[in-house]
Amino acid sequence: MNDKVRNLIRAVAMNDIREAKQWVKVITESDSTKSNRPFCKYILNQLQVSSLNLMELPHDIKGILLMEDVSMTFNENRYFLSEREDAVTEEVLGMYETSQKLSEMGIRYLNSLMLHGESGTGKTLFGRYLAYMIGLPFAYMNFSNAISSYLGSTAKNINKAFEFIGNHKCVFMIDEVDAIGMKRGKEDVGEMARVTIGLMQALDCVRNDTVLIGATNRLDMIDPALLRRFTMIHEVAKFSEQEMFLMVSKFLDDVGVKYSDINIIDYCGKSLNSQALVMNDVIRAIAKSIRNNTEFRLMTEG
Ligand SMILES: Nc1ncnc2c1ncn2[C@@H]1O[C@H](COP(=O)(O)OP(=O)(O)O)[C@@H](O)[C@H]1O
Ligand SMILES: [Mg+2]
Repeated sequence: MNDKVRNLIRAVAMNDIREAKQWVKVITESDSTKSNRPFCKYILNQLQVSSLNLMELPHDIKGILLMEDVSMTFNENRYFLSEREDAVTEEVLGMYETSQKLSEMGIRYLNSLMLHGESGTGKTLFGRYLAYMIGLPFAYMNFSNAISSYLGSTAKNINKAFEFIGNHKCVFMIDEVDAIGMKRGKEDVGEMARVTIGLMQALDCVRNDTVLIGATNRLDMIDPALLRRFTMIHEVAKFSEQEMFLMVSKFLDDVGVKYSDINIIDYCGKSLNSQALVMNDVIRAIAKSIRNNTEFRLMTEG
């Protein structure tokens, strides 16, 4: 029995499934026996399934908050990082370190970032990437879901989520903030005003070692008082032709699908699609090439 196996056994015995999975990853990654390769590959893929890596949450916040161990699930080989998002990552990592120091000095500081941009440009994915880079679990709350499914008790549910976040170091993403943070105005219904105010109060109490990320495709709908709580505001833009090409080829390289550079360049030059729609086309083209047993080809509509 080597040290790695010993660590795995200890983790299972202590009921620490997260730790156990880390050791399974280390062991399967480092195994070079040829006959074990298919098995190890299968296990490594299983470890990356998001739904199997959701952390167990207390009963009363299960439906509101998701918590994911992105150290397992985030596949860096399939993520294309643009220079713009790279710079933001540096900034967030730097601020994270600084806020720890400030905390030691007894100074409260909210490390917060608001992402905005068209739908499908990769805001949610960038949030997961940041959690992966910082090395913290990714807590996720979708406001538009929270509001539609809990109409009437939204404020209470949001408070519960923040209470939980207050006890757990994490990257906390509030997605589709516009669903609630709308400008407080005459059309405002009481519940929404309460929710917005409650949210702002909750943000004022978030601990230093939590990184807060908001995301919206309607920045204009966000209450200015709410927006002021975010120290950084960043637009996640639609990729340029060049960036789209790099994103697609990186993905295909990792999946192991052969392609022609010229075909991808041609497609990216003609497509006006967001990252999400381009990736849909890519997946559909992979499926088609498997079904028809033909070469992979990306086609522009029409
Ligand atoms: N930088 C990227 N690298 C690889 N794939 C990306 C990237 N950005 C977006 N995608 C693809 O687009 C999909 C949708 O992204 P998502 O984060 O849901 O967008 P948004 O939250 O802005 O609507 C992702 O699941 C992924 O397939
Ligand atoms: Mg999104």
